[in-house]
Amino acid sequence: MVAERMHSPEELLSVGEMSRRTGVPVSSLHYYEGLGLIASQRTAGNQRRYPRHMLRRVALISVAKRLGIPLDDVRDAFADVPLSTMPSHEDWQRASRQWKKTLEQRRRGIERLEQELTGCIGCGCLSMKACNLLNPDDELGETGTGARRVPV
Ligand code: FES
Repeated sequence: MVAERMHSPEELLSVGEMSRRTGVPVSSLHYYEGLGLIASQRTAGNQRRYPRHMLRRVALISVAKRLGIPLDDVRDAFADVPLSTMPSHEDWQRASRQWKKTLEQRRRGIERLEQELTGCIGCGCLSMKACNLLNPDDELGETGTGARRVPV
């Protein structure tokens, strides 16, 4: 087992400092922490202190949000990056490769959707059998026969 590296006080940032440095509201930092995307330590007075390396995580979360990438995907990308110790260059390289794979899948999905949307705009049949946008891979067919409502 690898011993955790302790952070000296000057390497720790308060939640307010994290918010100022990242431009992310304090409430969002708490939310990200609740999801396990970032982590803090507690002072004797039970205040949060973030290791400086959390800045990079928050920056990447912000980029992901701007690109419309769900936080679940961010969590997957961060899965093998240590949370309680300073990640190594190799840790971030691995995360970057995972991230790239996720973005590639997303790009292919958007391209497929774009092609189907172009066909549907010219069609408008709303057929649960024929329309791949309304019923991708005939998902509703597995739930039984008969009419299905279009989700709104
Ligand atoms: S609306 Fe007709 S195929 Fe999608």
